[in-house]
Amino acid sequence: MDVDLVPRPRRLDVRSGTVTWRSPLRIAVEAQRYSVAQVFADDLRGAIGWRVEIVAFDAPADLLLRTVDDCGEEGYRLTVDDTATIDASTPAGLSYGLSVLRQLGPASLFGDGAVVETIALPRVFIDDGPSYSWRGVHLDVARHFLDVATVCRLIDQIAVHRLNHLHLHLNDDQGWRIEIPTWPFLTQVGAYRRSTPIGHERDQLDDHVAHGGFYDARDIATIRQHAARRFVHIVPEIDLPGHAQAAIAAYPSLGNLDDPLEVWTRWGISEHVLNVSEEALGFADDVVRHVADLFPGSPVHIGGDECPTTEWSSSTAAAEVMVEHGFTDVAQLQGLFTSRLTEWLLAHGHEVVAWDEVMDAGADARVVIAAWRSSGMAVQAAQSGHDVIMAPMQFLYFDWLNAEGADEPVALAPLPFCTPWEKVYRFSVIPPGLDASLHHRVRGAQAQLWTEYIATRDHLDYMAFPRLAAFSEVVWGTKTSEAEFRPRLTAHLSRLEAMGVRYRAVDQPS
Ligand code: ACM
Repeated sequence: MDVDLVPRPRRLDVRSGTVTWRSPLRIAVEAQRYSVAQVFADDLRGAIGWRVEIVAFDAPADLLLRTVDDCGEEGYRLTVDDTATIDASTPAGLSYGLSVLRQLGPASLFGDGAVVETIALPRVFIDDGPSYSWRGVHLDVARHFLDVATVCRLIDQIAVHRLNHLHLHLNDDQGWRIEIPTWPFLTQVGAYRRSTPIGHERDQLDDHVAHGGFYDARDIATIRQHAARRFVHIVPEIDLPGHAQAAIAAYPSLGNLDDPLEVWTRWGISEHVLNVSEEALGFADDVVRHVADLFPGSPVHIGGDECPTTEWSSSTAAAEVMVEHGFTDVAQLQGLFTSRLTEWLLAHGHEVVAWDEVMDAGADARVVIAAWRSSGMAVQAAQSGHDVIMAPMQFLYFDWLNAEGADEPVALAPLPFCTPWEKVYRFSVIPPGLDASLHHRVRGAQAQLWTEYIATRDHLDYMAFPRLAAFSEVVWGTKTSEAEFRPRLTAHLSRLEAMGVRYRAVDQPS
């Protein structure tokens, strides 16, 4: 029996024969792990309508879930025998064992409402765990708003691939997507734009159709609860002081101009950034504190990318602030935001993540750097004492083309910028040139789904898959060769199909 698991476990021994399961399935588990078993039971019930009985730990069962002390934070051991067992040290490890058990069954276990009498599972022994603790996906809900159901669906897909972070990019020039009750215009004004480009930005065409939406505190709670069941950590990002045009449209006094602005209707990098007054710094502080409170204990991403300094350079108020702080370079002004937000977040139990540009004006070494401009930025960050999340656009920006063909949908970067899944699979989480003594600085990696050119759920699927499947194996730390992975990926597509994922086809090798 073929065993095509994605991502590949660290150790897989396939033994001879199969074990047959039928409904009702009995799962034995200690009381404190009941909720993990319940998620698996719900999945099975939804996919094939089986009855699943969760029974006491010492009762006879088809599947026994045990807590042991030697499997690490996210590891597990899975044995499929007359009784299947999963050993893990944490609920997350148990959940990954169950997720892999599901992959050992038919693809219909990932679907919705198939009629299945029996399941034949291969007899196996698996000993597994990830190499990296940050296995992330980033989703831009600012350029195109995506509803709670779509976000939760992506969380399910992420969990199937044993990825564990979803970074939500909650604001940008083109939209503000999270309600902050003390700053109501952020969503009343900033969550809506009057038009969106048609086709590629460079075509300069507009649809003149209003677009918008935002999450309130209840939506955020729904997303967090859904993610927690699947051991996915939600990381909120508030991107300031650049990418702030929607915020300035809502509160013009936060900007540098006398004239009001609208929520931006073009893609790209707006020149309109927050000013550097106490009011604007206080605004950033206030918003980030509110968001952090909605995500207790979570890392908070404070953005910091692509902040043009044109407006600051021609602002007398900014010049005065530079004198006050003894700055010689206008770019140093950005550091005022970084240090203030970092200080508060760290003091209140939140790790801080930021895009690599924050290093230009200096950042506390405790800030975790998301290296997006290149792998070289990750090397620089690690050498400066930062922990690093690898997110280099050359490999991990899934808004780039999937393939070179003329029939690919419009994507952010034109050819020759193209990232087929094979290139993703070749990606090295440890950046080239990083001294072995600094490898421990690399927390993991993250795939980016920017949505300037992704307006629908189907298109999101198309850009995410199969690249995310390839990425999951890279960041789990068990990749082999493209030739070995390809047939496993092809088999995995039937699971994606069952999940209703509109993935891009896997081309035959030329
Ligand atoms: C980015 O792509 N501006 C982080």
